[in-house]
Amino acid sequence: MPIVVQNVGRVYPTGTVAIENISLTINDGQFVSLIGPSGCGKSTLLSMMAGLDAPTSGNLAVSGRVGVVFQEPALFAWRTVRDNVSFGLQMQGVGKEERNARAEAALKMVHLSNFARSYPHELSGGMRQRTAIARALVTDPDVLLMDEPFGALDAQTRSLLQSELLRVWEQTGKTVVFVTHGLDEALTLSTRIVLMSARPGRVLADLAIDAPRPRDTQTDPSLRAAYETLRELLTKEVESVARAEHDRDWEGMSKPVATAAEQFGADI
Ligand SMILES: Nc1ncnc2c1ncn2[C@@H]1O[C@H](COP(=O)(O)OP(=O)(O)OP(=O)(O)O)[C@@H](O)[C@H]1O
Ligand SMILES: [Mg+2]
Repeated sequence: MPIVVQNVGRVYPTGTVAIENISLTINDGQFVSLIGPSGCGKSTLLSMMAGLDAPTSGNLAVSGRVGVVFQEPALFAWRTVRDNVSFGLQMQGVGKEERNARAEAALKMVHLSNFARSYPHELSGGMRQRTAIARALVTDPDVLLMDEPFGALDAQTRSLLQSELLRVWEQTGKTVVFVTHGLDEALTLSTRIVLMSARPGRVLADLAIDAPRPRDTQTDPSLRAAYETLRELLTKEVESVARAEHDRDWEGMSKPVATAAEQFGADI
């Protein structure tokens, strides 16, 4: 069982209670999407899984190696694509020949072999994000943690990278935890969707998604049903954030929910 989260809470020194009493067990090979309103603690939970942050209450254990991909690829401008990908191995003291071979194998997985000697500024946004995925894959992690990795990409590139990620997941059997604002993206990719409440983040719904692949979220009846269930819950949560943040302004406005949802970052 690679990820066990038990009654985890995180209170920041500022007093913000980011998440409260979250319990989740994520099994080997699951593809879990975390969704929830902006500010509900998704990134906080992922950072704790990555070991970049620690809970202030409860226990969190991740077994095996972890690779992380963020929304922004954050590549070194002065290193080639291959040397960006192999950087972590270099830090581990892996010799040059081996790290180049492993970086090239990782680049092959994301179809970027022909750009190994390019520099980040010569790549498109999608290619830079593929480089970041290759960088996360190069250490052969058991768990891949991804925080809105395709959020900044155009729809076509996002769809292409979704397919590539699914292929890597199917080929390698890695466990994936994937934060997204896109319900459609979560339904396309996941074996399980965990919906978090508005801050402080708690688990509001935990759904197994077992529709056959390749998936068509528009026509598959079980995906349509999951979409409706999640959308309704998410809309309520987003609305409650909007109410809290707009305070009295909100009351007289009776804003359409879709507008509030857009404003608060939920792609529903
Ligand atoms: N280092 C920090 N210090 C203080 N508060 C923080 C810190 N990091 C995050 N927070 C607060 O904790 C809450 C959860 O933040 P987090 O970034 O985890 O949310 P999120 O669900 O990832 O949001 P988004 O969907 O906008 O990315 C927010 O209210 C945020 O302002
Ligand atoms: Mg976040």
